[in-house]
Amino acid sequence: MINSRIAGTGRFLPERILTNADLEKMVDTTDEWIRTRTGVERRHIAAEDQTTSDLCVEAAKIAMETAGVTADDVDLIVVGTTSPDLIFPNIGTLVQHRLGIHGCPAFSIEAACTGFIYALTTADKFVRAGESGCALVIGAEIISKLVDWNDRSTCVLFGDGAGAVIIKPSDEPGIISCHLGADGQYKDLLYYPVGASKDLHKAGLGDAKIIMSGNEVFKVAVKTLGNVAEQALAANNVQKDEIDWLIPHQANLRIIQATAKRLELPMEKVILTVQDHGNTSAASVPMALDVAIRDGRIKRGQLILMEAFGGGFTWGSILMRY
Ligand code: ACO
Repeated sequence: MINSRIAGTGRFLPERILTNADLEKMVDTTDEWIRTRTGVERRHIAAEDQTTSDLCVEAAKIAMETAGVTADDVDLIVVGTTSPDLIFPNIGTLVQHRLGIHGCPAFSIEAACTGFIYALTTADKFVRAGESGCALVIGAEIISKLVDWNDRSTCVLFGDGAGAVIIKPSDEPGIISCHLGADGQYKDLLYYPVGASKDLHKAGLGDAKIIMSGNEVFKVAVKTLGNVAEQALAANNVQKDEIDWLIPHQANLRIIQATAKRLELPMEKVILTVQDHGNTSAASVPMALDVAIRDGRIKRGQLILMEAFGGGFTWGSILMRY
């Protein structure tokens, strides 16, 4: 059986940093409220002329260089995002073109904050089936352009960024299991009300805003992320204390703490970037993975559980040996 294994990672964050103190000047909020309710201290915000594919390309270049692969090696591109540059062509092809890659399948997957987990799960299947020898998988968002900057209940939460990984076939253990799920009955708790076939011309993308029932999302997120983690462990007969690192979606520190508690994991074993990045949706897990690999916390052979939850609702986990 071929395993797929991470050969390299990269991340890219826009230059501009928006702090909680900056937000105090924009809406009726305080640094203290934001930190205690969410854990966010600052977030990166894309420039006016920056697009999600710009962030993808920079993150991908770093991941490719780290993995020692060139454009000629990449034979699959999957991008998880909710904020693509255009309605079409899909962002995978935009990234493909700008990286000088030609001919391989390139597509995007929209699963809100679970986008990267869905994307990596898909790429893993291609590698295991022997159909890909080198896949580029990206989670990227510019959520800041969907945010209503007058709405204090949502604008304090989000940030922009991109994380990329290269996966390749390996005889060594790599991705062990992927579990995905979704339940559309929760669609009204978190959504963006405008799309290609709905109200695009009536409202105009720039006038719409993220609709979120924060409390309800919070409750389902805590329950589901706990269940997802336990599902991954049970399916692989892995004990909680065997996990070296938990990399949860970085939506809210309190949601992350609740998941860690349910897994009986000390917070020292949880990778946290929410304080620096905010909620970057599909970009949060691959960026957190890259942060912890580059600062030396995550080492080859360690057991990593990644998990995410987002609008839809969608959810998923990936258990892997790095
Ligand atoms: N600053 C100050 N006060 C605020 C702010 C703000 N930025 N935002 C809301 N408030 C006020 C509310 O108006 C409310 O005031 P009221 O009591 O006078 O009506 C009060 O604070 C409490 O509001 P709640 O919504 O009950 O606050 P809560 O403790 O639930 O925290 C939050 C809100 C942070 C959004 C939380 O519900 C949450 O994190 N939910 C999860 C949602 C999430 O993470 N969404 C991201 C996308 S989904 C995902 O990635 C999982």
